[in-house]
Amino acid sequence: MLAKIIDGKKIAEEIKEEVKQKTLQLKSEKGITPGLAFILVGENPASQSYVKSKNKTCEEVGFYSITEKLPSSTTQQEVIQLIKKFNNNGKIHGILVQLPLPTHIDEQKIIEAIDYRKDVDGFHPINVGKLVIGQECLRPCTPAGIQELLMRSGVEISGKHVVVVGRSNIVGKPIANILMQKQKGANAVVTIAHTGAGDISFYTKQADILIAAIGKPKIITGAMIKPGAVVIDVGINRVDDLTAKNGYRIVGDVDFDSAVKVASLITPVPGGVGPMTIAMLMSNTLKAAQYV
Ligand code: GUN
Repeated sequence: MLAKIIDGKKIAEEIKEEVKQKTLQLKSEKGITPGLAFILVGENPASQSYVKSKNKTCEEVGFYSITEKLPSSTTQQEVIQLIKKFNNNGKIHGILVQLPLPTHIDEQKIIEAIDYRKDVDGFHPINVGKLVIGQECLRPCTPAGIQELLMRSGVEISGKHVVVVGRSNIVGKPIANILMQKQKGANAVVTIAHTGAGDISFYTKQADILIAAIGKPKIITGAMIKPGAVVIDVGINRVDDLTAKNGYRIVGDVDFDSAVKVASLITPVPGGVGPMTIAMLMSNTLKAAQYV
């Protein structure tokens, strides 16, 4: 039996439609248009393409958005000055500094310069702390999107064993914290496996819900998955493909062809978690605008 495929694109469209309707309501009832500012430093092609598609989505849901493109020679202080300007701009409810930043800029200092109420990435230590202690806050978009995917696909999370592979601040740590809370759509028993684990298959084979957020192409194979598990692939890896128009194609951290034969539900790459990240960014920006 082949696993059922979770259509992240379709679920993301549903969320965007909900955001669009609520935005119309916020405009008519309170005269507020959610505003999102993007800061892009340098010429990273993946970052440029992400910011472009985030901007397009803002337009679709009826947000105001502005993009500041800065050269890679921009100093840390200059980026902080720009952030402060947006912190004090009443038309802007969300500020997103696209990562990674050039190496001469300290990412953590940049994140901490953002007013936490406008931190639509959910990376500010105040939001991270609130997330850990189960308080209402802006939550990182990709993990929030994974929880939505699971809930909207009818996956029972409470009491299940979730194994997260990867401990990044953007995905691994926050998804573990979200799914372990004593809250709706959570209450799971969570294990985080990472490069310190030795044989990660010892852990992955025990997962009812396996979340792969490693950043290495196709390293989770079907043999590492418990039969009937739900598999969420967060990987976006560029691999060379001479038959492709641009010379590369995108693959996940999961070897889809072998995993689909073992899992009960699985997200594809592309079209799984990826579209959810942008949808949740819109949802976070709306939430930030509602705080005002
Ligand atoms: N770079 C890769 N993922 C992200 C993200 O979620 N937010 C930001 N700001 N930069 C990223």
